[in-house]
Amino acid sequence: MKHYNVSVHHPRNRVPVFVTTNAKDAISMKSIQLTEQLYSYMLQASLKETPVQSELRETTALLPGSVMQIPPEQGQFMGLLTKLLGAKNCIEVGVYTGYSALSTALALPKDGKLLALDSDPQNTKIARKFWKKAGISERIDLRIGPALETLDQLIAEGRHNSFDMAFIDADKTEYQEYFEALMILLRPGGLLIADNVLWSGRVADKTAVDEDTVALRAFTLSLRDDHRISTSVLPIADGLLLAVKL
Ligand SMILES: C[S@@+](CC[C@H](N)C(=O)[O-])C[C@H]1O[C@@H](n2cnc3c(N)ncnc32)[C@H](O)[C@@H]1O
Repeated sequence: MKHYNVSVHHPRNRVPVFVTTNAKDAISMKSIQLTEQLYSYMLQASLKETPVQSELRETTALLPGSVMQIPPEQGQFMGLLTKLLGAKNCIEVGVYTGYSALSTALALPKDGKLLALDSDPQNTKIARKFWKKAGISERIDLRIGPALETLDQLIAEGRHNSFDMAFIDADKTEYQEYFEALMILLRPGGLLIADNVLWSGRVADKTAVDEDTVALRAFTLSLRDDHRISTSVLPIADGLLLAVKL
């Protein structure tokens, strides 16, 4: 039997307790379940968005692929992480209409830079328009092309250990390869954020065997066991995996 030393916050006993794989009942689910009413309250009580961010969401909502856009509370959280890290150099893989990039860039200092990678020249036109409107376009360097090729170029250019924060939100079957490249490009202590690791719950459904779901499961497990990083999965939005490069 495999043993894990897991710290469980028991209401009466906030100390680490020893649990085993067959003692799953010892861990009760403490994450709150969001209802629409509670989600709406949370946004009302805590969301701080600029008018350009709201306008970008409204514009994107009319597009067929709008489900790909990160939700606003995730954008706010990513902005907070950017500030917490004091990040000056960030990289994003998967831009779409630019909401996550805008949220990160708004949190950067004036001389900060975000390298934004996407293969789609059409939706990123919308991104450029809104970045300009927000007055932060000089902070964002958009590179159009297959992300793995752009990442390889950055490695070839010698950009090792030069990024403070990286966000992965493109092709789910390529996450592991983005991660390997980003491990070279991130500085020690740098933060990697991977989106969609809970994939609308499909990752927990054993009957779901499509290639995106299978890839996301394998990715999360492989990062858990990777000694180069410390990780945490947060049930925010569609599931965010945070990893710090050690
Ligand atoms: C989920 S969306 C990104 C959403 C974005 N982060 C936001 O906040 O709205 C995924 C994006 O990844 C891009 N993408 C998918 N596969 C890619 C690849 N192999 N190389 C570069 N970009 C890719 C798509 O064009 C799409 O714009």
